[in-house]
Order: sequence, then structure tokens, then C-alpha cells
Amino acid sequence: MEISEQTVKIPEASLGLAGGKTIPLIGFGTADFPFGDRPEAIKEAVLHAIELGYNHFDTAAVYQSEQPLGEAINEALHRGLIQSRDQLFITSKLSTADAHHHLVVPALQTTLRNLGMEYVDLYLIHFPVSLKEGAKYPFGKDEIVGMDFKSVWEKMEECQKLGLTKSIGVSNFTCKKLDKLLSSATIPPAVNQVEMNPLWQQKKLKEFCEEKGIHITAYSPLGAKGTPWGNQRLMESEQRLQKIASTRGKTVAQVHVFP
Ligand SMILES: NC(=O)c1ccc[n+]([C@@H]2O[C@H](COP(=O)([O-])OP(=O)(O)OC[C@H]3O[C@@H](n4cnc5c(N)ncnc54)[C@H](OP(=O)(O)O)[C@@H]3O)[C@@H](O)[C@H]2O)c1
Repeated sequence: MEISEQTVKIPEASLGLAGGKTIPLIGFGTADFPFGDRPEAIKEAVLHAIELGYNHFDTAAVYQSEQPLGEAINEALHRGLIQSRDQLFITSKLSTADAHHHLVVPALQTTLRNLGMEYVDLYLIHFPVSLKEGAKYPFGKDEIVGMDFKSVWEKMEECQKLGLTKSIGVSNFTCKKLDKLLSSATIPPAVNQVEMNPLWQQKKLKEFCEEKGIHITAYSPLGAKGTPWGNQRLMESEQRLQKIASTRGKTVAQVHVFP
């Protein structure tokens, strides 16, 4: 989430998604751990990112960053940094606790209230599992259950039809799980957001998604250094990246994220 002083201009390129919408190539993540501890820092970081030209923001119900993201966007509008919310691409995600047929639409409505918006650009199923109904974070392993993909995806499709989201997709789905979901979907997922970086290239999944017309968004592109779900390996041990970076007078993060 931090932005260093040595920042490059954010490329404006977008890519087409199945269903006709476009997604800006570079996005700004808002997961700050422990979740919910630093809403002001998230708001400040998002405002700074908008100043720098970011127009694509990634949040999730579980990150508790929807509200500070919405507040930052509101402030950016007031300050004239952007003219309309439509200039931005906002992704949020259905939590595993809400991954049940009757909870999907209300969960997105709560997300929209948190963001202070009428729609998100992309709504994703965060993980291909559900929590037992009533279970809350932090949860035990015995509270994780298999997801009923058909009934949950049916409601994701309803979210799109209701105009609450422009596109729908998934996150952390393997080829096998995507295949299962595709077998009953009437609107195929536009995106699969997964961990992808030089140390975790996911070539098979990439080929599968390309073949099915599913756009892959890479999360933890820097190896999630400094988070409980990642480590320093990518940023510190990639001699090749370090060589490219020093040859070009850039940081490892810059040559990696903005090739
Ligand atoms: N769908 C999912 O399940 C999922 C899972 C994880 C993440 N995500 C999304 O992806 C976003 C990014 O992923 P991530 O936070 O896991 O990992 P990441 O972007 O790979 O790593 C973030 C860490 O990289 C370091 N960093 C950032 N900019 C840097 C720079 N210029 N130079 C050196 N180090 C730098 C920071 O560590 P220090 O603060 O220690 O310097 C920061 O905490 C999240 O915010 C979230 O929106 C999604």
C-alpha cells in the first residue's frame, strides 16, 4: 500500500474483459494488515495514488478498506483531482462468510454502502470456499466448508443484472474449480484474481484462463513482503531483477511492476 518517493508515471493502458468492459492494467491494492487498524493511512495512500494517476483500486469486504477507499474518492472529487467516480475502476470481493446463495446480493449492497457508491466495476468471489453460516473472522479450519458454486454464482450473475456491478469474477480459483463453475454459469467470470509474480508464475492456470477468455489479475506482485501471507524472497533474492533494476537506474519494484 505504501508509495515510495521514487515513483514512476502510472501507465494508462486498459485491457478488454469478456462482456465488453475494460480494466486498467495497473491497480492499487488496499489490503493493510491487521485489517481495519489504519483507515486514515489507507485514505491518505489512496488520495496520493489518485494524485499520481492511479485509476484502479482493489478492495474487499474482509480488508475493511471499503469505507476509507470511498472516503478518499469522495475527497478526490471535492478537491477536483477527478471529475466523476466513473473515471475509476473499483473492485471489491465477496467474503467467504457471505458466500451463500441468500447472502450474496445483501453483501454487495453493504459493500456499496461502505464505498458510498451505486456500483462497483468488478465484484469477485474472494475464495473458492464458504464459511459455515454464522461463522466470523477469525475462524477455525473446521468452519471452512465447500462452496455451492452453482447457487452462489447464480446470485453473482444477479448482482450484474441488477447493475450493482459492471462485471463479475472470481479470485484464488484453480483450473479445476473454474471448470466446475463454468459448467453451470450463464455469465462466465470476466476475471480470476490470483497470486502471480516471478516466483509463482502459474503457467498452467494462465494458459487455461487465456483459452477461456478469463482475464488474470496478479495480486502480491512483489511477493507480499511484510505481510503475514508473503515474504521477502522475491524482493531480496531475485538477482536477475536486481541486475535489470540497477542497469536501468530503477528499483526492483519499478522494473517488476512497470516492465
Ligand atoms: N484476492 C486475494 O486473495 C488477494 C490476496 C492478497 C492481496 N490481494 C490484493 O493485492 C494487493 C497487493 O498485494 P500484497 O499487498 O499482498 O503484496 P505486494 O504488493 O506483492 O507487496 C506489498 C508489500 O511490498 C512492499 N512494497 C511496496 N512497494 C514497494 C516498493 N516500491 N519497493 C519495495 N517494496 C515495496 C511493501 O512492504 P513493506 O511495507 O514491508 O516495505 C508492501 O507491504 C493487496 O493490497 C490486495 O488488494 C488480493
